[in-house]
Amino acid sequence: MRGTMKAAAAVVALTFASGFALAQGSANKGRFHFKKSCKSCHVKGAEGGEITPLSKTQEQWKRYFAKGVHNKGTQKLTDVLPAEQLQDVQKFLVDHAADSPQPETCG
Ligand code: HEC
Repeated sequence: MRGTMKAAAAVVALTFASGFALAQGSANKGRFHFKKSCKSCHVKGAEGGEITPLSKTQEQWKRYFAKGVHNKGTQKLTDVLPAEQLQDVQKFLVDHAADSPQPETCG
């Protein structure tokens, strides 16, 4: 009986873990991380130049994150932010890209 309970608990735990792994990221969290961690260098006049969701199309953002390199190829995106936060930032930027249904200038 105890073994069954343990097995059931393991199944629940696994379901949760894979549920999170499969999640495609949250645009709301992404907006937060983008403002907090990217905007410091990406407003007008800052060292990275202005970047907003409108800087690229949905396809271009997807390709950018798939490639995963930043700052003219000198750095990995994962050196800028942890992978799970990047997933959220990607979702935010793609959802509000220049050719998206809800383009957004602010970041
Ligand atoms: C410490 C400063 C800094 C931070 C933080 C930063 N960037 Fe950058 N970023 C730069 C610089 C510098 C460049 C190169 C600008 C140029 O081309 O002259 C750049 C370039 C870019 C580019 C243009 C293409 C490229 O990679 O060269 C994109 C898109 C970009 N950053 C997105 C982001 C995103 C998304 C984040 C947050 C996850 C971020 N940046 C965080 C400094 C920063």
